[in-house]
Amino acid sequence: MISISPLLDTIENREATFKWINSEDVRRGILRNEKTTWPEHENWFRRLRDDRKNIHFQILDDDCAFIGCISLKNIDWENGSGELMIYIGDAENRGKHFGYRAIKLFIEHTCFLYFNMRKIYVTVSAENIIARHLYKRCGFIEEGVFKDAFFQDGKYIDVIKMVRISDE
Ligand SMILES: CC(C)(COP(=O)(O)OP(=O)(O)OC[C@H]1O[C@@H](n2cnc3c(N)ncnc32)[C@H](O)[C@@H]1OP(=O)(O)O)[C@@H](O)C(=O)NCCC(=O)NCCS
Repeated sequence: MISISPLLDTIENREATFKWINSEDVRRGILRNEKTTWPEHENWFRRLRDDRKNIHFQILDDDCAFIGCISLKNIDWENGSGELMIYIGDAENRGKHFGYRAIKLFIEHTCFLYFNMRKIYVTVSAENIIARHLYKRCGFIEEGVFKDAFFQDGKYIDVIKMVRISDE
């Protein structure tokens, strides 16, 4: 069984996440063009604990190995909404339904039951077919398309907002 728990500030976690968030496929998936420097990354880790608007969790596989991260960002506690972001760090761990299981667990347990959220949304590239398919399987529906919203690989791409509401 996979599990998720708050992202711990250890040197191993700093190094693994540094490698992953700078890899091309993760950056493409999470819509980030710029690479992160090590000092920026260390600063990000230092601020983790005090950040109430962005909360990050580590995804552990059946053998408790750290395989990726799932986050709730831009949290609006008053209105019960937040933006989900996920990546499975290494390509060999993708396509094994870790993403599906992590999202289901995170949304239904952490976001809806524990945080009492009402609405979880994702912003995903129209070209990220795997993520769109995955979010749909996890009960997200498309709420809108933002035309030419992000510049990637030398062209503008559409970005889709997908949402899941707690009791729908
Ligand atoms: C998106 C991501 C988190 C998915 O995690 P994962 O563990 O690989 O996903 P899963 O194995 O749970 O599910 C993948 C689904 O996509 C399907 N899929 C795989 N390749 C596909 C393709 N080329 N076209 C269509 N569907 C595809 C799989 O069959 C599976 O669907 P199924 O459950 O109906 O069989 C992972 O690919 C990733 O980290 N990508 C880079 C970062 C990223 O894009 N994050 C999302 C930001 S919005």
